[in-house]
Order: sequence, then structure tokens, then C-alpha cells
Amino acid sequence: MLQVKNVTKTFGGVVANKEVNFSVGKGEIVGLIGPNGAGKSTMFNMISAIFPPTKGEIIFRDLNIEKKSTNEMAPLGISRTFQNLQIFKRMTVVENVMIGRHIRTKTGMLKAALKLPSAKDEERKAYESALECIHFVGLEKVLDQQAGNLALGDLRLLELARALAVNPELLLLDEIAAGLNQKESKDMSKLIQKIREQGITVFVVEHDMDLVMSICDKVIVLDQGEKIAEGTPQEIQGNQQVITAYLGAEEMEEVKQGGGA
Ligand SMILES: Nc1ncnc2c1ncn2[C@@H]1O[C@H](COP(=O)(O)OP(=O)(O)O)[C@@H](O)[C@H]1O
Ligand SMILES: [Mg+2]
Repeated sequence: MLQVKNVTKTFGGVVANKEVNFSVGKGEIVGLIGPNGAGKSTMFNMISAIFPPTKGEIIFRDLNIEKKSTNEMAPLGISRTFQNLQIFKRMTVVENVMIGRHIRTKTGMLKAALKLPSAKDEERKAYESALECIHFVGLEKVLDQQAGNLALGDLRLLELARALAVNPELLLLDEIAAGLNQKESKDMSKLIQKIREQGITVFVVEHDMDLVMSICDKVIVLDQGEKIAEGTPQEIQGNQQVITAYLGAEEMEEVKQGGGA
């Protein structure tokens, strides 16, 4: 479904991704992990065409997507959530989800603007489809509430509902469980599995190791921009290079904190 071939991304002198190769198969749940600054979000940003790679190819189905623009992604079948939530706080839950769908039905928006007869129909369909996604993630109780009033766990579910509203084939989740408590994170794991059961391929960037190790078929590990390991959760947990990379990152944190105190 997705192939990342020899992808390098540099920002000025910073090498955020270096000659990274991997693939994501249809129907899989794949995890992308690594210490802070490893290049995970950069990889997601390239797969969602926020910016192109400096070098290399990204192929979705049979299409090269390096030169596509962000708003071509949803129609192609890729949608995502953001590490820093992108929610419209003054809009209601259902409105936030409908915005996701509008991205897919541009003609729908045009018709609405021109007040063509079929516009109402489109609008009703968008509403119904939004409702379906809201039910799917379990937010029906807060449907008409302003998004700004929601707790973090519900905001994450809202982002997820919006990403689902465009009927993606490939769903990218950037730290969807960040800040969730243990129960919320467990529920999120179940929800991601339920999404895969719908036939959607899921690619997650995640710090929550319980989540990654319990639901992923395959895990890819980045460290300082380079892929250092790839395998089943079990293989990754026992991989010495991975352990060293994480321990190294922890020590760096401790030194920084010690220095700051
Ligand atoms: N838009 C950007 N401009 C400049 N540097 C960036 C940008 N995005 C990421 N970086 C740098 O690239 C490296 C990888 O960052 P990122 O992909 O966010 O890591 P991760 O998500 O694994 O924590 C970091 O050194 C970060 O500062
Ligand atoms: Mg990140």
C-alpha cells in the first residue's frame, strides 16, 4: 500500500530523515517509534504531502506522491491526525467532523455556495456520515457541544473521527494516545483495531509502548533520522540497538535536566 524508498529530508543543516526504506502492507497496523527528534513526524509530514522529501520516493498504491499537494491526499485515500491537535474550538463536535468530509467533497462545497438543488442533499449526507464516524469513536453524547469544552481524551477521539470522515484507505495517527490515561489508551488501542477491521490500513507514530506493542503487526524504529530496526513487536523489544537508542535518549534528557536545575 505504501512504500518509502530511500527517503532523506534535510532542514538546513539538520538531517531529519536519512535514506529511510520501509513499506506498509494493506490491512496492517504498523508502528513508527523512536526517541524525540528521531524524525517520525517529519516522515508523516512527507507521507501526507505537507512537504516533499529532499531525496527519495514515496509511493502510495502505484502513485508517486512526493509532488502532490496536501489537499490531494484525502481524495487519494490518505488521512491523518496531528500530534498538536487541529480542532476548531468554537465549532461543535459534529461541525468539526463535517469539515473533514468537506475536504473530500469539493464539488459539494461549490454546489452549496451556488445553492444548487442537490446541495441540501450533499449537506445531509455529510451530516449523516459525520454522525456515523462520531458514533464509531463513541462521541455521540457530546455531538452538539463546542469542541473547546472537551477534555483531551475526547479531543483525540474527535480528531480521529474527522480523519475517518474522508473514508481513508491509509490512516496516519501521530501520537494519538499522547496525554491519555491508562484506560483511555487501552480504549484507543481497541478502537484502532476496530478501524483495521473495517479494512483501513493504520500507520501510527506513538510513544505509548503498551499501545504499540499490543496492536502493531510490524514496528519500524528511527533514531536520529535513520531506520535502525524493523520487525515484530517481540523482535523490537529484544533488539539491542533499539534499547541502546532509547537509553541514550533518556540519559541525554537526564543530563539536560541536571544541567538546567
Ligand atoms: N519544519 C521543520 N523545520 C526545521 N526543522 C525541523 C522541522 N520539522 C522537524 N525538524 C527537525 O527535524 C528533526 C526531527 O524532528 P521530528 O520529525 O519532529 O521528530 P519526532 O517526531 O521523531 O520527535 C528534529 O531535529 C527537528 O528539530
Ligand atoms: Mg513528533
